[in-house]
Amino acid sequence: MKEVQILATGSYVPDRIVTNDELATVIDTNDEWIKTRTGIGERRITTGENTSSIAAKAALKALENSSIKPLDIDLIMVATTTPDCYTPSTACIVQNIIGAANATCFDISAACSGFIYALNIAYQFIKNGTKKNALIIGAETLSKILDWNDRSICVLFGDGAGAAILGCGEEKGLIQIYTGSDGKGANLLKCNAVPIDINNKKLKEKIPQNADNEGYHYLSMEGREIFKFAVKAMGETIKTLLSSSGLTIDDIKYIVPHQANLRIIDYMIKKLKVDKKKFYTNLQYYGNTSAASIPIALDQMNREGLLEKGDKILLVGFGGGLTWGGTIIEWTIDKQISS
Ligand code: COA
Repeated sequence: MKEVQILATGSYVPDRIVTNDELATVIDTNDEWIKTRTGIGERRITTGENTSSIAAKAALKALENSSIKPLDIDLIMVATTTPDCYTPSTACIVQNIIGAANATCFDISAACSGFIYALNIAYQFIKNGTKKNALIIGAETLSKILDWNDRSICVLFGDGAGAAILGCGEEKGLIQIYTGSDGKGANLLKCNAVPIDINNKKLKEKIPQNADNEGYHYLSMEGREIFKFAVKAMGETIKTLLSSSGLTIDDIKYIVPHQANLRIIDYMIKKLKVDKKKFYTNLQYYGNTSAASIPIALDQMNREGLLEKGDKILLVGFGGGLTWGGTIIEWTIDKQISS
């Protein structure tokens, strides 16, 4: 049977840069606090574009860098916490924008682990022969679910989109995948849906309203608990991937972590006793873009020419749900693409 490979990558971030200093002009914060606690210097914020729009831009860049045509794509998944609508899925909207009329489309809700989950699902579809070419996208407009008056959370996140096209080839591109979830931590990182509001008076008296959801539709987070969970989930995911694939950390050229916080990544560098250059980071420029962070990083590494055919790369994510997961890939693209 053919092996599953990443055939191309693409990404898009909005032009509008919001620096820590600019945030400090509207809320009680400062560059020093944000940089020392998180490593973030600036983030990108959309100005009028929705998630489907930036997702489609990332997808088109991936398509430009492949020999795949939109009509060859038979599966589209968008991993997002910030879809345009409850229905239709963001993936269906992207399908229409890019003209991928032959694709089956749906969204993945796994917060910051969403791209890894999508990779896993695409792998299964392609490996069992059901689909040939999958377009998977992590895309977020988190700015629309942030409370911009809450300094403890709004400084951490940003908007952006990253995409990858998966297909078949001779070499094994996806070596190992691992995912997990723990709903016991569901309240630690959360954004409520619209509360139930039955607009029929007679029915309303009979059916209890969902008080838990009332009124608050911004992202909320127990920062310290999430920090503890993140280092544990990352450590366990890396350990599991290495042991199940029979590889050691020295076999891995780069680790591409979810770009949440430099202190979490520094902790992992110390724990694994590896050179900090092994971990790719770009959160300094984009903040935490949730499901988009890993594919944006992967695309940037690809465009910067950091990846060579045969390199083994470990992607690892964690986030709300709670969810976590990772994958070891072997880079199979032999031509370095231009930016
Ligand atoms: N600017 C200035 N001060 C701020 C601030 C900001 N943006 N946000 C919070 N503070 C203040 C708090 O009010 C508090 O002040 P106090 O001591 O007077 O009460 C102080 O800084 C410490 O706040 P705390 O929340 O305890 O800080 P922390 O050291 O735990 O850092 C996080 C907060 C969010 C950076 C940290 O918990 C973290 O990184 N957690 C993981 C988050 C994450 O990665 N989430 C995404 C997962 S996918």
